[in-house]
Amino acid sequence: MQIGQKIIRLDTVDSTNNYTANLIKEGKILPGAVIMADEQTAGKGQRGAVWTSNAGENMLLSVFLNSANLSLHQQVALTHFAAVSVMETLRKIGISAQIKWPNDIFVGHRKIAGILIENTILNGRISHSILGIGLNVNQINFKDLSATSVKLETRTFSAVEEILFKLIFEFNKYWEIVKIGNLGLLRSIYLDNLYLLEQEATFEDSDGVFNGTIQGISDEGFLTIRKLVNGENILRNYDLKEVKFISKSTF
Ligand code: BTN
Repeated sequence: MQIGQKIIRLDTVDSTNNYTANLIKEGKILPGAVIMADEQTAGKGQRGAVWTSNAGENMLLSVFLNSANLSLHQQVALTHFAAVSVMETLRKIGISAQIKWPNDIFVGHRKIAGILIENTILNGRISHSILGIGLNVNQINFKDLSATSVKLETRTFSAVEEILFKLIFEFNKYWEIVKIGNLGLLRSIYLDNLYLLEQEATFEDSDGVFNGTIQGISDEGFLTIRKLVNGENILRNYDLKEVKFISKSTF
């Protein structure tokens, strides 16, 4: 699978992820295909959120990935693959991006890109995945004040295609690592670039708001946070819906 061997460019679509899913169903594309759009009318974010983006200003794309023979418990490797590829692309254009668990890309304390991976499971294995990426490139006004873009960070206009080709290069580089099964390497690059690693921050879990420190991630990709419970430091692993990041500052 060569990522980006075929690139389909659309003006407007509901969601590049949905469009890609249909093309896969109809057997019209092969793994590695990249589908991008200038505008989405129903862009999908994580946890059922919507992804909004000004028309023609940002990178909105989906990649059809084959399974690389990953088992279900290895699916977190796809998150690592995607996050590391986007982070490294931004580094190459001079932006020191970090990864906010599980799959947001941050610059400082602002989000520059989001990732939405939709896996299709067949007989207990991943049969294929649709990797959706929304990267803010030339948009400078955001409703959400905690967002940033390539232009806000570099103060210059960047052509979306130019970033696309850099991203495709990183995708292919890191996909080789997935293919040879060196998932530990991807995981360690992910961990080395994790936002707020070993820094105290405020979180919320089912027991309430607390100060804690991210210690790392578990093998399954859960977030490990050290927190004080009854005067004792404990380590707790959190799944996606079990913990919310509140702020960097402590109370
Ligand atoms: C997030 O919530 O952070 C994930 C955002 C993912 C957005 C991208 S834009 C291209 C692709 N198509 C979609 O509908 N969503 C993803």
